[in-house]
Amino acid sequence: MKKISVKSPANIAFIKYWGQRDNKLILPYNDSFSMNLSGCTTRIEIETTDDPSLRKLYIREYKSTDFRESEGKTLDMIIKFADTAKRFLGKRRSPGFIIRSENTFPKKAGIASSASFFSALALGFSRMYESEPEEKELSILARLSGSGSACRSIPDGFVWWQKGTGSSSSYAYSLAPPAYWDLRDVVLILSREEKKVGSQEGHQSAITSNLYKERLYGLKKRMRLIRRAFENKEFSLFGRLVEADTVSMHSVMMTQNHGLFYWSGKTLDVIREILALRQKGTEGYFSIDAGENVHVICRGKDEGRIAGYFKTHPAVIDIIRNSPSVGARIIHT
Ligand code: DP6
Repeated sequence: MKKISVKSPANIAFIKYWGQRDNKLILPYNDSFSMNLSGCTTRIEIETTDDPSLRKLYIREYKSTDFRESEGKTLDMIIKFADTAKRFLGKRRSPGFIIRSENTFPKKAGIASSASFFSALALGFSRMYESEPEEKELSILARLSGSGSACRSIPDGFVWWQKGTGSSSSYAYSLAPPAYWDLRDVVLILSREEKKVGSQEGHQSAITSNLYKERLYGLKKRMRLIRRAFENKEFSLFGRLVEADTVSMHSVMMTQNHGLFYWSGKTLDVIREILALRQKGTEGYFSIDAGENVHVICRGKDEGRIAGYFKTHPAVIDIIRNSPSVGARIIHT
């Protein structure tokens, strides 16, 4: 019997991952670029048992007091991932396990809760199998969980996921540690409803959008520019590119087969406020994943003003403030 505890962050992508060229190996069509989030983390504890048939998952939901047993799709994904990890790490036998998981933020609301959860599992399962793979291997393993963006929660700080030419070259690495740039992500929670269509399903249809080819073509330039803006810490240019990428991804989402409309009226209201604040000199830029909640990317000096401004906004039910964070970590074995 062993107990392994891991803490891992969600991440916000500045250049988004949308569309898979291989849905078994979870290979993306494009590179993506993200920042790990200090305030949106998942903590898991894995307790191993000698009975390999015992595999349980307990989840404590955001702001809930107790752990509840979870079955169905999430448990199935975990069991499958434990098997993937076993093969990936070259192990033969699998112990049983009981997993307890808790989040500091609502899951399935466009804050990449599966990224923090599956990156934590990738590290936790490695230890369960008594392996200590290097960061690159761990990132590949996290990607193979099915939640591709989980691979970006393994390295520290500001992270680049190279699409690679195959499974062994599609992994994420750190471009800079958390302290490199005092960026913040003020997450405006507009709803705690779970999204109805998961990303995995959405990725499959991305290519059916007429705008998808254009997105991939435009990304070449955007990626070059954002790398330069990041290196030179040119925040205004950086922010404009972040917004452009969000709009580009959501245009694809809306125009792909069975169009995905993640934005709500509240999302648009908040976007307009962010633009208006900018006119008045408080520089924040929006970024939105597969959900209606809005991330405001800003610098440390403006974080308080932006969070303060939205605190009393009628559409905002909660605010989570994030600084750049380290990646997945063992907290106790
Ligand atoms: C829209 O397949 O990694 O967040 O497993 O649901 O977290 P989940 O999603 P995943 O795709 C996420 C795509 C995205 C953009 C991004 O984070 O790059």
